[in-house]
Amino acid sequence: MLLRGSCLLAAFVLGSLAQSAIETTDFNVTRALEDQGVDVSKLPVPALAERSSDSACSIACKSLKILYGDRVLQSNEAAFDSFTVGYWSIQQSNVMPFCIFEAPNAASVSVAILLSRLSQCPFAAKGGGHAAFAGASNIEGGITVSLESLNTIQVSSDKKTVDVGPGNKWGQVYTELAKSDLAVVGGRVAPIGVGGLTLGGGISFFSSIYGWACDNVISYEVVLASGLIVVASPTKNRDLYWALRGGGNNFGLVTNFNYEAISLPGNDMWGGTRVYLEDNFPRLTQAFSNLVANSPLDPNAGQWIAWLVNNGTKIASAELWYAQPDGNASRIFDEYNTLTAISDTTRNTKLAAYATSLNAANPYGLRETYYGLTVKLNPEIADLAKDIFYEELPSTANVAGVNPVLLYQGITTGQIKAMAKNGGNPLGLSPEEPLYLIHVACWWENAADDDTVYAFITQVLNRITARAKERGVDNDYIYMNYASLYEDVIRGYGPDNKAKLQRIARKYDPQQVFQKLQPGYFKLDRPPVVDARYFSG
Ligand SMILES: Cc1cc2nc3c(=O)[nH]c(=O)nc-3n(C[C@H](O)[C@H](O)[C@H](O)COP(=O)(O)OP(=O)(O)OC[C@H]3O[C@@H](n4cnc5c(N)ncnc54)[C@H](O)[C@@H]3O)c2cc1C
Ligand SMILES: *[C@@H]1O[C@H](CO)[C@@H](O)[C@H](O)[C@H]1NC(C)=O
Ligand SMILES: *[C@@H]1O[C@H](CO)[C@@H](O)[C@H](O)[C@H]1NC(C)=O
Ligand SMILES: *[C@@H]1O[C@H](CO)[C@@H](O)[C@H](O)[C@H]1NC(C)=O
Repeated sequence: MLLRGSCLLAAFVLGSLAQSAIETTDFNVTRALEDQGVDVSKLPVPALAERSSDSACSIACKSLKILYGDRVLQSNEAAFDSFTVGYWSIQQSNVMPFCIFEAPNAASVSVAILLSRLSQCPFAAKGGGHAAFAGASNIEGGITVSLESLNTIQVSSDKKTVDVGPGNKWGQVYTELAKSDLAVVGGRVAPIGVGGLTLGGGISFFSSIYGWACDNVISYEVVLASGLIVVASPTKNRDLYWALRGGGNNFGLVTNFNYEAISLPGNDMWGGTRVYLEDNFPRLTQAFSNLVANSPLDPNAGQWIAWLVNNGTKIASAELWYAQPDGNASRIFDEYNTLTAISDTTRNTKLAAYATSLNAANPYGLRETYYGLTVKLNPEIADLAKDIFYEELPSTANVAGVNPVLLYQGITTGQIKAMAKNGGNPLGLSPEEPLYLIHVACWWENAADDDTVYAFITQVLNRITARAKERGVDNDYIYMNYASLYEDVIRGYGPDNKAKLQRIARKYDPQQVFQKLQPGYFKLDRPPVVDARYFSG
């Protein structure tokens, strides 16, 4: 063991909180590793002279192995394969890192980043592994840092806040918090990761009351490019705190989220699925639009609608929920209640069980994409978008195992107003304007059909955008958590917010480690993949 004792690590972490978070121009990576208790002279760093990327990662992974032993997995090990199949989509499972590092604690995340800098071996970090496209949270030939062991769930003694490690999935969080009649504003489907969902925004069952997940984080503990472990909150590193509320993986690796706790007695709520046939579609889009618009009248209520074809029949599947029991009694659902569903599972339920049940429709191991846009609230667009989707659908007829779905959600004024808490966030949404998020979700079997699928979705989204523009209801925002590899999410936050995010990144990460050495996902100046053939927002 070449880490010189945990006291030293603790001293470094505590010391760093008092110290400036800014990396100086004479920053010395070797010294930073030594400050972390790493005996660099025992690592194979002299071989760094070669600097080919293969040897860079060989050196970095060997060094991690020397320091952390079993926590480093390489491709000849069974545990390596069981790790890679833990990604939701096959596009991510197919990516082969040089090694996987199961980081045991925040200090080891810091060591991994510094070793990446020293060796110039690139890295990625995996939270829940639900981002669908290749390289989002896994890296070909590099170091994939798994955050899974950072799985604290700790309620504060006054029950007002909860520390949640980034390796948790929402199902675990809700099950644990149910014991205290609490919840947090987090994901709606059990196996989704805390890390990715919160850093991209985070739409919850409770968002029209409390806002998005990112707006209910009181403070972040984050490992910066320098290896320093700092707190970002409304009072500490305030600019970094703002940037992390939707800025994704561009600023550091978050090792703890401290959330505001919300009261949820008995873990009780209400929700379920109502399925409708085509004769109800026009009235369904009305019900959807009116519920988005009327949300402030009863923000306990929420909804999404999935449009699809099931066994040759067009159906719409509306997910309706309520943040308390007996949502069926709220007047807010009156319009939905006048429609005849062919099936209806709405019931009193518990948050943890509900989030688990919603995962049934999301199998692992397939090619997957989410791909979306935003428009201003407009009932005509709600009507048109689904028609466009159904018109274009035949172009996927020959795609094996294809399952395209068009999804509608609302960004209500309640959600947007809550974004102003604690100094706001970088998403660029205006509280005067409720919005619709419209995205296509699709799985299919073969890589040979990728172009057909992406071209189909591009056509759908381009046509929706054109109709929105005609009506002056287009909007540049792209929700990171539903965006595809071809979309430039940060550009959609608007030029001022983008420039501000870039300034903050240069301040905390002057060598642009999180832009260059961690190349995956939505970078500040680009989409993950540039391809002019496809819809980019
Ligand atoms: C079935 C399903 C249901 C969903 N439901 C919802 C929902 O209800 N609400 C919603 O808003 N979104 C939802 N999403 C979208 C979801 O938020 C995104 O897919 C998100 O990226 C998943 O986060 P993850 O940690 O699981 O993914 P990962 O692939 O592990 O991470 C995504 C990105 O975040 C980075 N990252 C993760 N953790 C950290 C960290 N601690 N520090 C720095 N970077 C980190 C990763 O490096 C990667 O770049 C859903 C997605 C699916 C597939
Ligand atoms: C960086 O620090 C190491 C170890 O303290 C030292 O040997 C090396 O000379 C330093 N490099 C520079 C460029 O200062
Ligand atoms: C699909 O529809 C056909 C008729 O259109 C019906 O015979 C068949 O049972 C249906 N299959 C399922 C799984 O519903
Ligand atoms: C709502 O559903 C519950 C059972 O889930 C039932 O007892 C109650 O009567 C229903 N209320 C209304 C207004 O339909």
